[in-house]
Amino acid sequence: MKQNVSMDKIQAHCKTVGFVFPGSEIYGGFANTWDFGPIGVELKNNIKRAWWKKFVQERTDTFGVDCAILMNPRVWDASGHVASFGDPKMDCKNCKQRFRADTLIEEHSKGAVSAEAMTNEQMEAYIEEHNIHCPHCGAKDWTPIRKFNPMFITSRGTLEADADKVYLRPETCQGEYVNFLNVQRTTRAKIPFAIAQIGKSFRNEITPGNFLFRTIEFEQMELQKFCHDKDSMDIYNDYKQQAWNFVTSLGLQADHLRFHDHDKLAHYAKAACDIQYLFPMGWQELNGVHHRGTWDLSRHQEYSGKSMAYLDPFTNEKYIPTVIEYSIGADRLTLALICEAYDEETLENGETRVVMHFHPAIAPYKVAVLPLQKNLSEKAKEVFSKLSTFFMCDYDEAGSIGKRYRRQDQIGTPMCVTIDFDTLEDNTVTLRDRDTMEQIRLPIEELVPYITNKIAF
Ligand code: GAP
Repeated sequence: MKQNVSMDKIQAHCKTVGFVFPGSEIYGGFANTWDFGPIGVELKNNIKRAWWKKFVQERTDTFGVDCAILMNPRVWDASGHVASFGDPKMDCKNCKQRFRADTLIEEHSKGAVSAEAMTNEQMEAYIEEHNIHCPHCGAKDWTPIRKFNPMFITSRGTLEADADKVYLRPETCQGEYVNFLNVQRTTRAKIPFAIAQIGKSFRNEITPGNFLFRTIEFEQMELQKFCHDKDSMDIYNDYKQQAWNFVTSLGLQADHLRFHDHDKLAHYAKAACDIQYLFPMGWQELNGVHHRGTWDLSRHQEYSGKSMAYLDPFTNEKYIPTVIEYSIGADRLTLALICEAYDEETLENGETRVVMHFHPAIAPYKVAVLPLQKNLSEKAKEVFSKLSTFFMCDYDEAGSIGKRYRRQDQIGTPMCVTIDFDTLEDNTVTLRDRDTMEQIRLPIEELVPYITNKIAF
């Protein structure tokens, strides 16, 4: 990551090259919504695939689901979201903008102070003492903190008057809890086992920007491990480590990451820990690992009337499993990986090269096929169609070869294949490496195994 890169710069780059555009832009935008563009969707899909590979595909004890976003509203009574899900909000009396008090404190202190264990009174006192002004208008005229439930409400039925209240899910994990019995029965899994899901969640977040970091609609990659309580702390510690290994293996530098054990725990929880990443605005949560005790399944048993007990086939012990949850936002991780990959290099000729050093496994395009001149396009298209059955490839014949290399550097394409006149003679191509800019010559038939090896994750 380039030192001291600002979020504005990251956001501008994302828009310029097609990673992410402001949501509904031609209508003036829509706060805290973003649309992934042609290369952004590839990047995010690759990140989701990498997570699924590590946490589902390569595990014998983890099973995937894809659950409905709209759930029976009783689910949200059981989970506690209707009664007590809420963020501490303050309004600026001058410009009428609303903010989360904890976010104001954490952003003001650049992540050095955690507000999670503070009471509302302590947060108000901190904001007063540290003279925290409205990030929007600069005034310092705050309302007292009030609780605000960020669940989006919609209605079911054709006549609104008769309609039942329905919520857009604010987290994906409830789908995993309510399918505990179904998954256990159909997979014949023995405890400990996990259920994983990737999907959209919705929260009516009111925040001062920060691009993809906190949005009203976002994707979560969550898994719940169901276990016996006696094994739960080992499993909890193991997921903390796996979560760390996952993000470092994708390219986040260890010195940009830290564990943050929660000071304040929910009454049912035994432990909770985030991994924080050093975003341009400071240290902020990237993911969470939570020891949730038997709270989730007990509550669903109580509210649904269905027994959530597990009968151990070896010991005959019947018990409600303990849950260890691992949760990470796909958009938030995408943002962290974009910040980490962004670099500006000064070349020998004095020019600046913007380059995204993505791990090849998540790069939007694995390879770009570039004919040196337009009259080589027939051969180049032949190579493109050969490679594109295996990998996401770009094809570009517009502009000088130097400019085309720069364009690929800006979107993080790890390899460029250049077709020249020798290619017509001997079926070899030039392969240029994004990071070192070194070039080698390879026979066309060796490209697929070579690239496959480079992008392995
Ligand atoms: N089921 C547990 C749960 O939802 P959370 O800490 O509220 O826990 C988990 O969310 C992860 O989801 C966060 O660590 C973050 O990566 C992501 N996330 C949460 N709210 C988000 C938002 N408004 N925008 C983007 N990502 C968000």
